[in-house]
Amino acid sequence: MQEIRAKVLSCEPLAAGLIRIILHAPEIAAQAKAGQFIHMLVPDHAHVLRRPISLMAFDKEAGTLTLAIQPKGSGTQIICAMKPGDEITCLGPLGTGFDGAGAQTIYFVGGGVGVAPICGAMDAYATETSHAFFGFRGAQYAYGMTQAPCAVSAVSDDGTLGEKALVTKPLLEKIGEKRPDLIMACGPTPMLAAVQKIALEQGIPCQLSLEERMGCAIGACLGCNVKIVAEDGSWTYQRVCKDGPVFDAKVVDMHG
Ligand SMILES: Cc1cc2nc3c(=O)[nH]c(=O)nc-3n(C[C@H](O)[C@H](O)[C@H](O)COP(=O)(O)OP(=O)(O)OC[C@H]3O[C@@H](n4cnc5c(N)ncnc54)[C@H](O)[C@@H]3O)c2cc1C
Ligand code: FES
Repeated sequence: MQEIRAKVLSCEPLAAGLIRIILHAPEIAAQAKAGQFIHMLVPDHAHVLRRPISLMAFDKEAGTLTLAIQPKGSGTQIICAMKPGDEITCLGPLGTGFDGAGAQTIYFVGGGVGVAPICGAMDAYATETSHAFFGFRGAQYAYGMTQAPCAVSAVSDDGTLGEKALVTKPLLEKIGEKRPDLIMACGPTPMLAAVQKIALEQGIPCQLSLEERMGCAIGACLGCNVKIVAEDGSWTYQRVCKDGPVFDAKVVDMHG
């Protein structure tokens, strides 16, 4: 983990309401793993709290990080208005990341902006038999499919892309055809809870990447706790920033 001044190489629309930023950040790219994130200081000297953003892709040779950011509140709006040549202070890489070691067939599940870290996971772990399932609000919000390293099935809320369905529908159909060794998922909490339920019911190992409001992002403030339940029913808290953001679906309490 390092704090660096990263240079903006490009900052342009990726889909409706989504900006792709490519940063030159060789120190972070060199250490990056799929599923990790960076903590970005809003470049206006007014916002004290940094913004956590996942790595959509990284290129260790070129020293670049690719991010997909929804300009929602004031901080992300300022970040997404940066221009090539601007610099931004970033801390990273942070968190645990996905682990697909030993898995032959992985099913990847992404919803909305959660597709971004899933793209990184696919780059790292997709095989010929892997399959990705993406859910978007509509066709204009879709991204991450053209250069995917495995087959992708996309669905949408309004039926303008693929079937009008929740992403768990094609996931369940595919599991019926062939069980994967592992599921990796990132997206809105209801989607993650539904994927968790499927994985637990079917006994399929599953890793969920969670999102939580963060203060420090280095494990010190305990502001990002999530409930972790042991097999004997006892529970404890773990930090999404340091112990996650990727957790085993068997232990994380999505409703706690
Ligand atoms: C591990 C992780 C990875 C993420 N990856 C991405 C990504 O790749 N692309 C993307 O668009 N968004 C991502 N998010 C969500 C993103 O961090 C928030 O949308 C963003 O911080 C909100 O800031 P704002 O300036 O838009 O909103 P504001 O409302 O101005 O934010 C106020 C404060 O709340 C915090 N906050 C608000 N919403 C969230 C949230 N959902 N998660 C965490 N902190 C929040 C902000 O960091 C800030 O401290 C990620 C969140 C986490 C925890
Ligand atoms: S944000 Fe401070 S402990 Fe996670």
